[in-house]
Amino acid sequence: MSTEQAPNANFKPRVFSGIQPSGGLTLGNYLGAIKRFVDKQEEGIETLYCMVDMHAITVWQDPAALRRQTRELAAGYIAAGLDPAKSMLYNQSQVTEHVQLGWIFNCVARMGWMGRMTQWKDKAGKNAEKASLGLFAYPALMAADILVCHATEVPVGEDQKQHVELTRDIAAKFNHDYETDFFPMPEPLIQGAATRVMSLRDGSKKMSKSDPSDASRINMTDDADTIAKKIRKAKTDPDALPSDAKGLEDRPEARNLVNIYAGLADMSVDQVLADVGGKQFGEFKPMLADLAVAKLSPISTEMGRLMQDPAEIDRTLTAGANRARDIAAPIMDRVYNIVGMVRPV
Ligand code: AMP
Ligand code: TRP
Repeated sequence: MSTEQAPNANFKPRVFSGIQPSGGLTLGNYLGAIKRFVDKQEEGIETLYCMVDMHAITVWQDPAALRRQTRELAAGYIAAGLDPAKSMLYNQSQVTEHVQLGWIFNCVARMGWMGRMTQWKDKAGKNAEKASLGLFAYPALMAADILVCHATEVPVGEDQKQHVELTRDIAAKFNHDYETDFFPMPEPLIQGAATRVMSLRDGSKKMSKSDPSDASRINMTDDADTIAKKIRKAKTDPDALPSDAKGLEDRPEARNLVNIYAGLADMSVDQVLADVGGKQFGEFKPMLADLAVAKLSPISTEMGRLMQDPAEIDRTLTAGANRARDIAAPIMDRVYNIVGMVRPV
């Protein structure tokens, strides 16, 4: 047996990603993640996309809210273009192989690796003693999500890059410790003009569903008036827009709005600035609001329609889980065997 890292050439290309149903979807989730999920689906690669509910409960979730948000996230996936006939859409908790591999990875990953994760440091803050053990172990479960289906590509926003790199470290340590080349080395895919959408109120903070200020984010369920109002009130500086990307350096709020425009329009930042360079925000903001409403309204309308039939969403997710289990179960049988265990039938 070889102790070399497994080249992904030996693995079928496969895409996995997930979003936590811990609140509503934001424009950051859409541009950083979901739009990229759809791109991958359209390339015809095998794609698996989860509602990572086991991750969501690393911080307290009201059970009824979790149930509703999980369905709403699924509705968001479908409304934004994920097709359950093409992509496997399911809840992480429905495919128990995820947590089985998560535990094994808790025993492979090192405390020091976890302690260095910036998301852990941000979320636990000074109150680490009070954080759940699950929040600390969170990246090991994320590694399990990715590796339980031997995914080779992981579309995520910029903030998740460190976790995907950790996934590679866990895969490499497992392969090394057990003298195997069983796990691939998944690649993070961080693509598009808006891989890190920032708060509309503070250009140094990520747009997040957990920000206490609703004005800081655009929710996928916001109506046209709310979207326009939030963009009109977004923090900016007094200068006109520059004509190239270099002119956005040290202008985080201006850069953020241009990135959002580029992300929504599927243009590069330079293309956008070639059109709008020299304009004042008083002129640019209404253009951005119109574009955002044009792109987001059909999605939120479709989400609303899908949410009227929760039983249909549940059926779709159960079907997705069954397909995902067909991939994960034989992989977990082999993992148990490698580790020296027998998986229950
Ligand atoms: P979360 O909502 O934390 O579960 O994130 C789900 C996905 O959305 C991950 O791939 C994140 O990287 C991505 N994401 C979340 N917020 C943003 C943001 N503000 N900008 C870009 N991507 C984001
Ligand atoms: N940690 C990711 C986030 O908060 C969500 C996630 C869980 C994920 N498991 C994953 C993303 C596997 C990609 C692949 O954004």
